[in-house]
Amino acid sequence: MTRYARVESLKSDLGVADLVDLPAPQLDEGEVMARIERIALTTNNMTYAVYGDALGYWNLFPAAQAGYGCMPAWGFAEIVESRASDVTTGTRIFGYFPIATHLRMRPTTVTARSFVDGAAHRTGTPDVYNLYELQPRDTDPRQDSLTAIYRPLFITSYTAADYLRERDFFDAEQFVVSSASSKTAYGTAYCLTDSPAPKIALTSARNIDFVNGLGLYTATHEYADLTAVDPTKRTVYVDLSGDPALRRRVHEHFGDQLAFDCLIGSTHADHLPEEDESLVGPAPVFFFAALQLDAYKAEGQSRAFMQRYQHDERGFLEHVGRPERPSIELLEHAGLEDAPAVIAGFHDGSTDPAVGHIFIPNAG
Ligand SMILES: NC(=O)c1ccc[n+]([C@@H]2O[C@H](COP(=O)([O-])OP(=O)(O)OC[C@H]3O[C@@H](n4cnc5c(N)ncnc54)[C@H](OP(=O)(O)O)[C@@H]3O)[C@@H](O)[C@H]2O)c1
Repeated sequence: MTRYARVESLKSDLGVADLVDLPAPQLDEGEVMARIERIALTTNNMTYAVYGDALGYWNLFPAAQAGYGCMPAWGFAEIVESRASDVTTGTRIFGYFPIATHLRMRPTTVTARSFVDGAAHRTGTPDVYNLYELQPRDTDPRQDSLTAIYRPLFITSYTAADYLRERDFFDAEQFVVSSASSKTAYGTAYCLTDSPAPKIALTSARNIDFVNGLGLYTATHEYADLTAVDPTKRTVYVDLSGDPALRRRVHEHFGDQLAFDCLIGSTHADHLPEEDESLVGPAPVFFFAALQLDAYKAEGQSRAFMQRYQHDERGFLEHVGRPERPSIELLEHAGLEDAPAVIAGFHDGSTDPAVGHIFIPNAG
C-alpha cells in the first residue's frame, strides 16, 4: 500500500523534525500527484527553515501540525496521477518539494519545458520556487543526485560571480571567502577563475583538509588565523557564514582595503544583519540568487541565461564528481526515516561537508 508521509520541522527548535504519516490525498479537478523520487539536503535547506517566516518559505508547503513548518528541498519527482488535462502521468519534473513521499500540485502556465505550481498558498516567495522543469526519463541516478545537491547552490555561485564580474570584481586583488567548505562557497571560487585575484578560504579548523583538497582556493586559513591574510590588498569579502563577529573582524582587518562585502549565506547566523554604523568600511550587501533569476526573467533573458548556465554547470559537476578525486561522497538514504538526524546535524554544525545527503523517499 502506498505510504504518504512528510518531514515537519519544529519552528521553535529547528534541530527537531518529525516524520508524519498523512492520509491519502484526493485530487481535485486540475491537480496532479507528484511522487518524489530523489531530493537532496544541505545546510541551505536549514537556512530556508531559519528564514521560514522572514522570507516566506513556510508558506510553500503548509505543515499538518501546529507550530511546525515543512523545510523545502530540491529534487526530482514523477507525476503518478493527473486530473490536469495538460500534464500527463509519467511526466518527470525537477523543482522544489517538501521532504515528503508526495506533493499534490496544481499546474498552471504549462509549456513544453515547464509548469508552475499555482496552488493558492504558494505566494510570497520569488517565482523560481514555484517553477518545475520537465525532465527526460531514464537519466543516470548519480547525475540526478549531483544535480539535486548542486543545482540550487551552483546557480547561486554562478549568479553571484556574474554580479561581481559585471562590477569588474570591484578591482579586487583578493577574494576572501567564509564557510569556504560549503558547496555554495567553493562553487563561487570555481566561477571566479576568470579573475586572477587569489581566492583565500576561511573555514573551521576541522574542515581545513577538506577545503585544501578541493583545489579551488589559493590558500586556506581557519577562522582564528584571519590575521594571516594580507590586509594591504584590495579585498572583496564573499560571506557564506553570515557570522556577525567574523564580519566585524574582517572589516577591521582590511579597513579601507575592503572594497565590497557580498553577503550570500548564513551558515553561522540566524538572522540578516541590521544596519550597523559602527562597522568599518562598506555595509554588507545581501545577494539573493532567486531575485537575480527573477530579474533575468523580467528582462526576457531567462532562456539565454539557462543555456549559458547549463553548459557551465556540466563543467562544474564534472569537476566535483571526477572519479579520481570526487569532492563529495553521495550517501543515499532509503525512505525518510534518517531525515530528522541529518537535519539535526545541519543544525548543530556536525555535518561533514564531504558527504552529500540524498533521500529516496519512496524506497524501503
Ligand atoms: N543568497 C542565496 O541566494 C543563497 C542561495 C543558496 C545558498 N545560500 C546559502 O549558502 C550557505 C551554504 O549552503 P550550502 O548548502 O552550500 O552549505 P553546505 O555545503 O552544506 O555547507 C557545509 C558547511 O557550512 C558550515 N556550517 C554548516 N552548518 C553549520 C553550523 N550549524 N555551525 C557552523 N557552521 C556550519 C560549515 O562550514 P565552515 O566550517 O567552512 O564554516 C560546513 O562545513 C547557506 O547559508 C545557504 O543558505 C544562499
